[in-house]
Amino acid sequence: MSEFKYDLGILGLGYVGLPLAIYSIEGGLKVFGYDINSEKVSKLNNGQSPIEDISNETLKKSLKSNLIFSDDSSTLAECEHIVISVPTPLTDFKPDLSYVISAAKEIAKNIVKGQVIILESTTYPGTTTEVLIPEIEKTTDLVVGEDIFVGYSPERIDPGNKEWNFKNTPKVISGINEKSLNKIKSFYEQIIEVVVVTSGTKEAEMVKLLENTYRQVNIALINELAILCNMLDIDIWEVVDAAKTKPFGFESFRPGPGVGGHCIPIDPKYLSFKTRQIGKPVRFVELAQEINNSMPSYVVNRIIERMNILGKPMKGSKILILGVAYKKDISDTRESPAIDVIENFLAKGVEIAFYDPFVDNLKVNNSEIKKEVNLKNFDDYDMHLLHTPHSEFVKLNLSQYNVPIFDATGSDFIDDAERI
Ligand SMILES: NC(=O)c1ccc[n+]([C@@H]2O[C@H](COP(=O)([O-])OP(=O)(O)OC[C@H]3O[C@@H](n4cnc5c(N)ncnc54)[C@H](O)[C@@H]3O)[C@@H](O)[C@H]2O)c1
Repeated sequence: MSEFKYDLGILGLGYVGLPLAIYSIEGGLKVFGYDINSEKVSKLNNGQSPIEDISNETLKKSLKSNLIFSDDSSTLAECEHIVISVPTPLTDFKPDLSYVISAAKEIAKNIVKGQVIILESTTYPGTTTEVLIPEIEKTTDLVVGEDIFVGYSPERIDPGNKEWNFKNTPKVISGINEKSLNKIKSFYEQIIEVVVVTSGTKEAEMVKLLENTYRQVNIALINELAILCNMLDIDIWEVVDAAKTKPFGFESFRPGPGVGGHCIPIDPKYLSFKTRQIGKPVRFVELAQEINNSMPSYVVNRIIERMNILGKPMKGSKILILGVAYKKDISDTRESPAIDVIENFLAKGVEIAFYDPFVDNLKVNNSEIKKEVNLKNFDDYDMHLLHTPHSEFVKLNLSQYNVPIFDATGSDFIDDAERI
């Protein structure tokens, strides 16, 4: 019987930390969730979930079990395992580990012999041993690896994915020594179906960067081919659909208006930051970034061409953007290419509104973008741009409106759209 009151303490209750809390409760664990955002904590305690994958009902049910949330970190001292799932953004184009460091300080303040600390935030190889552990060691005399145990486990959560969830997605785990690894393995085996062990924390940190760089590079490849196919008058969608019938050696990626979210645009930059420290750029990453970053303006230029053919000047025209989240069926607009698209249109004097069932407010360059709420007004626009293929859009029957559609998503539910 453990002397700790909680099996798990989580720092950071966002897209990664909150599902971890809920699935751990479902796995029979006692969980304490800590977040510096007091407003978020109070909403969570009132059963209001900020993310689509966790319903308010599920959250309320968990709150009736062994789950508590707080903006006071002192309860971390009562947690046997502690997971860090705080943001790792870019600031001034560089990895910003300040959240990881402040999380490490909170842990160190409350540290107790026997605790197991696991970093789940995405980061560059070396962070666990070169940043996290030294930060904890500043405050405690406990011996890392003997008195307290440390490891890294990348999070693979895919918001909005109904098939692959926290429990059934294999989880890569690592520890700084065998004792740490054994404890981390026993912990995750309680809540995850399959765990995959790497020999050290650097390897586990690198796994996440490989996965997201792979996506970024392949998305860039198909985006570049989409641009070239358009110039060659070849239908890229037909090409992709035919190519993906190959049962081996080919994974299909689809063109789009760019990449967004907290992972694909950011994580490869963590990798190139690290490799530049040894004087080597990751050339694939940098080229892929350049191509993906150019997609919003490519979309805008294609629409300008279309409007030209229709004899409509851009200045003063009205464009409705359907979907502004960075991907289907979620509300997250972080790094969404829609923001660049809108910025680009606004600079050309276009009037922009958006329609997104998941997003209530959107600010671009500090200005609030109008949200169209009335389907009856859809006819008042000069162009509809399908930016994010939310499932709900299938029911909209966009073809009923007498407005040209530019489809940046390659959806199969609109017949008469101009496609990327
Ligand atoms: N969102 C995803 O799909 C996803 C997938 C895999 C990995 N990741 C990685 O997981 C990490 C977290 O991402 P997220 O999307 O959950 O972020 P998020 O912004 O949704 O949530 C992070 C939370 O951490 C809180 N926080 C910040 N500093 C803190 C501190 N010192 N102590 C406690 N709480 C603190 C914030 O208030 C916020 O609520 C990032 O490194 C991200 O790259 C994200």
